[in-house]
Amino acid sequence: MLLRKKLIAGNWKMNRTSADAVQLVKDIVVVSGKEHNVDIVVCPPFTALESVARLLEGSVIKLGAQNMHPEASGAYTGEIAADMLRALFASYVILGHSERRSYFKETNAFINQKVLAALKSQLKPILCVGETLQERETRATLKIVQAQLEQGLQGVSREIATNVVIAYEPVWAIGTGKVATTAQAQEVHAFIRSLLATLFGDTVAQKIRILYGGSMKPANASELLAQRDIDGGLIGGASLEARSFLDLIQAAAAVK
Ligand code: 13P
Repeated sequence: MLLRKKLIAGNWKMNRTSADAVQLVKDIVVVSGKEHNVDIVVCPPFTALESVARLLEGSVIKLGAQNMHPEASGAYTGEIAADMLRALFASYVILGHSERRSYFKETNAFINQKVLAALKSQLKPILCVGETLQERETRATLKIVQAQLEQGLQGVSREIATNVVIAYEPVWAIGTGKVATTAQAQEVHAFIRSLLATLFGDTVAQKIRILYGGSMKPANASELLAQRDIDGGLIGGASLEARSFLDLIQAAAAVK
């Protein structure tokens, strides 16, 4: 019996109109809508959340958003609040993705506000951490991941910490086809779990899921998912085709 149920989450990024999303989700629901051995999450763009939510009704697949603003409401043109996502039946929200950190200059402190706001609204944050190529080459990986994790989770209590999901996404592996080796990924995942144990105690740390993200594909998933501390995947490119996303779900279901 696995201690942690595997989780496969699709981050569609800025892809698919609402109408295109419908077709993709229909194909996913037909095959995996009753899969009980893996938690499945799809994270379409905001504009497709409502149409996707309707299709997910009655299936085990959960809905996630790709971002949110920490404030509950107000003069934040262009932004979306946690309760707006909850009203569309979202259960998860990706926070601190490296694309938001680099293109939109999101800091650990700002991401931390979002994590706290998400938890307050009963949304499960998928907190992304990961180093750039330069940081890896200068052996700063663990230091960077530690800062992102500790600052991102500041103020999260032990009681609700199991609602958090961590995604380790080495920036150099995202959308590049360059996947981390299983040893590279497992090393950082184990390090993250040790940090979680320091923050929340070992029992809680053993329950928190740590996903790998960065060029995860059906061809490399089984080996990654078999690692002790890799509890699933946050999938970009391969989540945009039903076939490859379903194959990834199957790969996760097959891990003993
Ligand atoms: P790719 O799977 O396209 O490399 O993207 C990973 C990612 O950024 C998921 O959040």
